[in-house]
Amino acid sequence: MNRTHTNNELNKTHIGKQVTLIGWVAKRRNFGSMVFIDLRDRNGITQVVIDETLTESVKEVRNEYLLEVSGEVLQRKDANTKLATGDIEVKASKVTIINTAELTPMIIADETDALEDTRLKYRYLDLRRPVMQKRLIQRAKIVQTMRNCLDDAGFIDIETPLLTKSTPEGSREYLVPSRVHAGQFYALAQSPQIFKQMLMVAGFERYYQIARCFRDEDLRADRQLDFTQVDIEASFLTEEEFRAEMEVMVSKVMQNVLGLKLELPILTMRYADAMNDYGSDKPDLRFGLKLQDVTKLFASSTFAVFQNALSFKDGVIKALVLESGSQLTRKETDELTEVAKKNGAKGLVVLKFQNNQLEGSVVKFMTEQEKMALCEVLGLKDGDLILMTADKFEKACNALGAVRLALRDKLNLAKKDDFKYLWVVDFPLFEHDELENRYVAKHHPFTRPKDEDLHLLKTDPAAVHACAYDLVLNGFEVAGGSMRIYNQEVQKTMFEIIGFTKVQVESRFGFFVDAFQYGTPPHGGIAFGLDRFAMVLTQSDSIRDVIAFPKNASARCPFTDAPTPVETKQLDELHLKIK
Ligand code: AMO
Ligand code: AMP
Repeated sequence: MNRTHTNNELNKTHIGKQVTLIGWVAKRRNFGSMVFIDLRDRNGITQVVIDETLTESVKEVRNEYLLEVSGEVLQRKDANTKLATGDIEVKASKVTIINTAELTPMIIADETDALEDTRLKYRYLDLRRPVMQKRLIQRAKIVQTMRNCLDDAGFIDIETPLLTKSTPEGSREYLVPSRVHAGQFYALAQSPQIFKQMLMVAGFERYYQIARCFRDEDLRADRQLDFTQVDIEASFLTEEEFRAEMEVMVSKVMQNVLGLKLELPILTMRYADAMNDYGSDKPDLRFGLKLQDVTKLFASSTFAVFQNALSFKDGVIKALVLESGSQLTRKETDELTEVAKKNGAKGLVVLKFQNNQLEGSVVKFMTEQEKMALCEVLGLKDGDLILMTADKFEKACNALGAVRLALRDKLNLAKKDDFKYLWVVDFPLFEHDELENRYVAKHHPFTRPKDEDLHLLKTDPAAVHACAYDLVLNGFEVAGGSMRIYNQEVQKTMFEIIGFTKVQVESRFGFFVDAFQYGTPPHGGIAFGLDRFAMVLTQSDSIRDVIAFPKNASARCPFTDAPTPVETKQLDELHLKIK
């Protein structure tokens, strides 16, 4: 085609030139004998003017027609400062309709009131919106930057299978029936974890892969069924050395994609401190509102709720102070109580500090001494709102942490263009599963315990920390990884603690454990959740906005309508019958 420029290129320096543009009609306005058309391509918009000599040829042109326009670049009388091409317009001497378009079911512009399912059903039109194109282009830039950094640092891009063995640890898997082997199943890879460790055993030293992963999870704003990891593994590095390399890559992403300088090193916080101070293992550090611990003040409290909490070995009372928060209405504090309850608390103590005294339904259970101590420890000022949870440590912290985030959203305490990174480190190696009354691996069973805690492995598993780390950005876990066990004895103990018998280990992980007998190097790695990372960096509200064809919140693809029933013949071939 004859295109000479894109729709974002022309400016004052082109005035007087003959050009040919191609684009979709974003807008058409009739002004007496003149017609103005905004011509749009993926780069931008250029205004085209059509005078009376040509209006006949564009009589039928409507939004989303695809045009080729030739003409002269003219200075615009009233510049549009919002457009890169706002100083000029193209006076058409020839307009060719390349293709016509039906009336679109949604408006194609950054602002849209279309429902998400409409947007997903007509995704090819939704993706014409400049804001969507910008997001996907930025996503591509993020991957490209990461790829370049990893290539430069000697990481080798190696693909691993998507159809693999079912290993029911971690999240629920997608099963794929084998046609050839009746009654047997592959699982879709949840991550390349096992294979990337094998590549270390194989001596590749440094591996990466832009890997699709599949997890049958309940969907949330930051989760998809199929998503992408930038998956990385390296041998012969300490945890600190490895994380430092990742930081350099992240800072390059910030520079290339957003033009921002990221101060290194990235802040590090222990898991226990993150929980204690922010009530989350992925704290949003763009704002304060730290949780405080007031357990000691109520050691001899007569309030049943506090007494009950303190009867647990790790019972705590956590408090959060919102300055001038006493203006919040009853309805608003009730909403916060609901947030606490939804997040596992039995309730929320709500107090106000007004006219130099504490008010609230629970005040009557507090002694003068307790009240004074609370005011002093929390440094209360007139008009403050105090919110408290009492429970086992994790429960009380989690619930109040969720309240903290609800306040962030309600009061706009965090800016989307503020990017606060954080490494959360020193996770516990195990979690206690209350239902099954056994320990389970918090990360996965191949995560290495901290050397200094090794002696506790058999006697006090709960006290053992892991060489595991999450990279957190604005309250989202954008990456997670760990150093791996390479000592067979430690691996054996690990399996024993999580209650696997020898036979179970053999049938589930036999192929994996066997490989470790042959000179396994010390190794470790990480996986970035690319979709999540792109979501935060493009300031999108949902992971779906940075994926070209995502599933909706109820796990469907409104464009193809998947999942759908299949024909009996297909099921027969797979030796399956629907119950
Ligand atoms: P993990 O399970 O923490 O670690 O996953 C790594 C990162 O992937 C992202 N992520 C998701 N993104 C979108 N939708 C999902 N359903 C989803 N689940 C996870 C998160 C997360 O931080 N093999 C290990 C990594 C390692 O140890 O090297 C792993 O998969 O951003
Ligand atoms: P109750 O005695 O259950 O009526 O609770 C009295 C007040 O304490 C109510 O405002 C509850 O929301 C609150 N409450 C109950 N359980 C807890 C808890 N575990 N932590 C904090 N507040 C609680």
